[in-house]
Amino acid sequence: MRVDEKLKRIVIGERELKRRIKELGAEITRDYSALALARGGERPLLAIGLLRGVVIFLADLVREIDLPLEFDFITVSSYGQADSPGELVLLKDLVDPVEDRDVLLVEDIVDTGRTLKFIQETILARKPRSLRTCCLIDKTPRREVEVQLDYIGFRLEENEFLVGYGLDYAGLYRNLPYIAALKTR
Ligand code: IMP
Ligand code: MG
Repeated sequence: MRVDEKLKRIVIGERELKRRIKELGAEITRDYSALALARGGERPLLAIGLLRGVVIFLADLVREIDLPLEFDFITVSSYGQADSPGELVLLKDLVDPVEDRDVLLVEDIVDTGRTLKFIQETILARKPRSLRTCCLIDKTPRREVEVQLDYIGFRLEENEFLVGYGLDYAGLYRNLPYIAALKTR
C-alpha cells in the first residue's frame, strides 16, 4: 500500500506486526493452557475487544491463540475537549455476561490509560473469574492513570499520533496494513 503524504513514517511494519502477534498468541496460549489445566478444563476463554480500533488486531491475535475461545465487543466514547479528559460513556455493551468467565480484554492502544481503566472497572464489577489485558501498543508519555497490562505488543516512548492497523484519525487510515505516525502539520 502506498504511503500517504500525511504520514510521517512507518513506525511498525507489516512483518513486525505479524511476528510480534504470533509471539503474543503463543504466550497467551501457554498461560491460559496452564490455567485451564490447573482448574480442570472449564469454559472457553472470552476475548473482549474495544471497538472500533481493535478489530484488525483482535482478528489477527485470536487466530494465533490455540485454545477454545469466544469473543465479544464493547464500545465507549469520551465526550470532552481534545485535551481535557471527557466523561466515558458505554455506547455498546457486551452481548454475553462475563460472570465467572476468564476474560482477556484486548485493546489497540493505551495512551492516558483512562479508557482502559474504565473498561477494566466495568468488567471487574461484573465478577469475572479472571481478567487480563492485552494491548498492541503501550504509548507511555501521556499516561495519567496506572493501568494493569498483562500482554503488551509494543511499548512506545515517543508521543506521536499513530494510525493504521485499526487506528484512525477522524475515522480514516484504519485499513493501512502497518502502523504509521501522522504528520502534525
Ligand atoms: P486513553 O484513554 O487516553 O488511553 O486513550 C485510548 C484511546 O484513544 C484509544 O482506544 C484510541 O482510540 C485513542 N488513541 C490514543 N492514542 C492514539 C493514537 O496515537 N492514534 C489513534 N488513536 C489513539
Ligand atoms: Mg480505541
